[in-house]
Amino acid sequence: MEQKKNNLSRRNFVKSSSLLTGGLLLAPTLLKASSWQYETKKLKIAVIGCGGRGTGAVSQALKADNNVELVAMADAFEDRLEKAYSSLSKMFPTDKINVKPSHKFVGFGSYKKAIDAADVVILTTPPGFRPQHFEYAVSQDKHVFMEKPVATDIAGIKKVLEAAKKAKAKKLNVVVGLQRHYQASYLEAYKRIQNGDIGNIVSGQVYWNSGGVWVRPREENQTEMEYQMRNWYYFNWICGDHILEQHIHNIDVANWFVGGYPIKATGIGGREVRKGKDHGHIFDHHVVEFEYEDGTIISSQCRHQPGTKNRVNETFQGTKGTVYTNGGGSSILKRYDGTNIYTHDNENDINPYQQEHNLLFKSIRNGEVISNAENGAKSTMTAIMGRMATYSGKEITWDKAMATYHKLVPDEDTLNFDSMPPVIRDEYGNYPVPIPGQTKFY
Ligand SMILES: NC(=O)c1ccc[n+]([C@@H]2O[C@H](COP(=O)([O-])OP(=O)(O)OC[C@H]3O[C@@H](n4cnc5c(N)ncnc54)[C@H](O)[C@@H]3O)[C@@H](O)[C@H]2O)c1
Repeated sequence: MEQKKNNLSRRNFVKSSSLLTGGLLLAPTLLKASSWQYETKKLKIAVIGCGGRGTGAVSQALKADNNVELVAMADAFEDRLEKAYSSLSKMFPTDKINVKPSHKFVGFGSYKKAIDAADVVILTTPPGFRPQHFEYAVSQDKHVFMEKPVATDIAGIKKVLEAAKKAKAKKLNVVVGLQRHYQASYLEAYKRIQNGDIGNIVSGQVYWNSGGVWVRPREENQTEMEYQMRNWYYFNWICGDHILEQHIHNIDVANWFVGGYPIKATGIGGREVRKGKDHGHIFDHHVVEFEYEDGTIISSQCRHQPGTKNRVNETFQGTKGTVYTNGGGSSILKRYDGTNIYTHDNENDINPYQQEHNLLFKSIRNGEVISNAENGAKSTMTAIMGRMATYSGKEITWDKAMATYHKLVPDEDTLNFDSMPPVIRDEYGNYPVPIPGQTKFY
């Protein structure tokens, strides 16, 4: 492919895209949102998806601003909702956790009533449902914190991109939980990359290699839908595979630092180790090469195999030096002669999960607008493109992938716990696993 290394255009592109990706969030030049300015109002929040992250995000929202109360909760399952309610009630006084029994909403479709009750909504279900929840929240003029990934399929990406535009037009704040954009070590590294300290990035390697995550085994008397909803990590329509679910963080850093989104991907993947009956149909490893418009190549690896080497970090090579970053708060920039450009001291850094909410509520109070949704959708799309490449074994281009009708998630409002999920097991209890060379997307 034609190599278009143009220092000036690269630098300009990085600068203009940084507003989108949150790179300049600490010094925002943002739109005034006078109609949505809430300088003093008590802000009501609702959480949709009351699991680990939902509970954490509510706690961070309540600590971010003194004048905030949780007024509504929604979850597919009552036991999950009550567990979150109980742990939040132990952490905060009753004027902060002000959720009446009539404002605890359970089941499919519970998101609507909870969203209706709030000014700011926290969308923390598994990602398959995110596009529908986000679309509804924007239609109801709510400010949003939503977790990554923001979709599992291309139909969902399109929905989020559309709603992102509307949110911007309505001057609604949208923060996406790609918290590295709110982490001082990454922001400092990014600032120096922008400054040209390591020259133009020409290649990089990004990793999420670990032992894997929880399994919620099938229980007696569960319908197939309840089983998949509880053991959601292993079903693509709800989860999107771990290349989206976790590795998106590292892929998103690549997009942010390179200053764009890849135009194509090729990859290798499969399931070697994690392939039991409760492991659904996702892969346990993906290795993808992403190519950007200017010829930059990013190699991406993610692995969920117990007993193997853990590695969760990013490295990028520029024309003058290298940058090393990780979510633990380290960033180091070096020249090729080995001399140090910068080593980040993270001792006084604010927890990035907290910082996301600090800036969200500050922005709402000041009548400003943070708009992370477009980048959230495009980084999710990058991971989907990687997944399509490893599942099919073919080269996948951004444009052709975006043009496919790739829809995994049914309309939530049509679902109940007796309905059949979009993927079902065969007579031996196995779910259909993608086969490179046979699985096709276009
Ligand atoms: N940014 C981060 O570092 C980070 C860390 C952890 C999780 N997350 C993200 O947060 C999201 C949730 O992860 P988690 O670990 O909290 O999972 P979890 O399983 O602990 O919680 C998800 C909750 O959503 C509920 N739910 C599922 N479908 C629903 C629906 N349609 N309506 C209402 N509730 C529904 C589930 O019953 C469950 O209680 C995921 O997208 C995950 O990637 C992000």
